[in-house]
Amino acid sequence: MINEMFDIKGKKAIVTGGTRGLGLGVAEGYLESGCEVVIVGTSDKVYEVAESYQKKGYACYGVKGDLGDRADVYRIFGECVEKLGGDLDILVTAHGIQRRHLSEEFPLSDWDDVISVNLTSLFILCQEAAKIMLPKGYGKIINFASMNTFFGGQTIPAYAAAKGGVAQMTKAMSNDWAARGINVNAVAPGYMRTEMTEGVYNDPKRLESTTDRIACHRWGTGEDMKGACIFLASHASDYVCGCVLPVDGGYLAK
Ligand SMILES: NC(=O)c1ccc[n+]([C@@H]2O[C@H](COP(=O)([O-])OP(=O)(O)OC[C@H]3O[C@@H](n4cnc5c(N)ncnc54)[C@H](O)[C@@H]3O)[C@@H](O)[C@H]2O)c1
Repeated sequence: MINEMFDIKGKKAIVTGGTRGLGLGVAEGYLESGCEVVIVGTSDKVYEVAESYQKKGYACYGVKGDLGDRADVYRIFGECVEKLGGDLDILVTAHGIQRRHLSEEFPLSDWDDVISVNLTSLFILCQEAAKIMLPKGYGKIINFASMNTFFGGQTIPAYAAAKGGVAQMTKAMSNDWAARGINVNAVAPGYMRTEMTEGVYNDPKRLESTTDRIACHRWGTGEDMKGACIFLASHASDYVCGCVLPVDGGYLAK
């Protein structure tokens, strides 16, 4: 049955950034599909969000930590897997930060923060996930890339470098693991209305220029990420390897 290809009921998932924005959309999509989901966030909000879904009858747990701190990434991953009973089927790396300065003034400390949170932590999380997925010959990894995977933007050299790196790392890991049962892919959201993009959204000029280029002529939301991330987490995408899937309302195509 074709519907079974998209069925992810009972799968165990980690969704970083799951407390808000795009990660929350993905986590909700997985919960609604019958997955057990651990969300990761920086504040106690992660427990509140998890509890709000538990009250609705979903199997949702929270782990708080700093994915910008290497040692903490390992601790966070370990706690997530513990909450999932020692197993993992799906990893979604939907956390991230943004820092803006002209390239000539960009502080090295901000460069380090963005690279640590937006790239290095993904490398560690994917590597740790693979250690569970490779022995059982099954797993789905979905990394969050960006439009800045494809172009450089302005005042965001670290973010663009990290998101370019996410795409290349995704392809490299896919090449190493595809024949051993792990699909590693990335999604590249377009202009999505979240806390991260509040500044751009609230600038009437930039809102108009970006919206004009979006073929759907509207900004996306976490809800718009659900379908692509369920597809990439399901058997329907078993032959999709190392791709960067734009979920951008047609922004790139224009
Ligand atoms: N919003 C957009 O238009 C857009 C476009 C392209 C890509 N993205 C990417 O999508 C992902 C989600 O973005 P969003 O718009 O939902 O952002 P957001 O700012 O709304 O949410 C970011 C999430 O990341 C978590 N996070 C940030 N730093 C962390 C850290 N050090 N440790 C642990 N968790 C941390 C936060 O707790 C939060 O849950 C990011 O990777 C972002 O780069 C967003």
